[in-house]
Amino acid sequence: MVDHKALIVALDFDDIDSVLRLTDQLDPSLCRVKVGKQLFTRVGPSAVEQLVKRGFDVFLDLKFHDIPNTVANAVSAAADLGVWMTNVHASGGSSMMNAAREALVGRQNKPLLTAVTVLTSMAEADLAEVGFQGAALARVVALAKLTEKAGLDGVVCSAQEASELRKVVDPAFALVTPGIRLKGDAMGDQKRVVDPAAAIAAGANYLVMGRSITAATDPIAAIKRILSSLEPE
Ligand code: C5P
Repeated sequence: MVDHKALIVALDFDDIDSVLRLTDQLDPSLCRVKVGKQLFTRVGPSAVEQLVKRGFDVFLDLKFHDIPNTVANAVSAAADLGVWMTNVHASGGSSMMNAAREALVGRQNKPLLTAVTVLTSMAEADLAEVGFQGAALARVVALAKLTEKAGLDGVVCSAQEASELRKVVDPAFALVTPGIRLKGDAMGDQKRVVDPAAAIAAGANYLVMGRSITAATDPIAAIKRILSSLEPE
């Protein structure tokens, strides 16, 4: 089933004024927002707090990848900020993912915990360079299975892998897909891209979209175009 707030706008800005200029025009009941490394490193936790205060579901996308104790403490800090979702790298392994999950047990605010499989900016040649032979898909499937076994809520993957993943993971396991482009949009550094409606049709639950919106001359019009492309014909 398509989540009524499937669109997650990646707020990849350097300052809070640019963030609020955009989000003050957004209705938190129509989309979610994502705070990633750029904004978090520039502005800090207050960026998250201000968005939460304005009623947004915030995906804190810091892709934690460290020893289990450190990741568990970081995930715990994310929960304290009131975020809706946060994430780790699945390649950190099951001990790290288990520790992250356990850090959220019994919390008042229990964010969804997802794991990055293979970055959508990586194609086969990039994977080979870091020692992984073969197609991205096999690695994504293996990491998704490991993530599900560790009891996390879902994975971050390319929508190109969504239909294959839907065959092997539980229907409730969330697929969060960046690398989404409307036809005619610039690819930027993304390589494994899909358009919004095709991503949902392939089984994605959440679409992460940044530059197609934030770099558009009219970001609100871009969001409306995306949301209407998701409505049933
Ligand atoms: O601008 P664009 O739509 O490419 O932004 C994609 C966003 O999703 C960025 O904030 C990036 O950090 C994030 N992301 C990604 N690939 C992943 C995980 C997250 O592009 N595998």
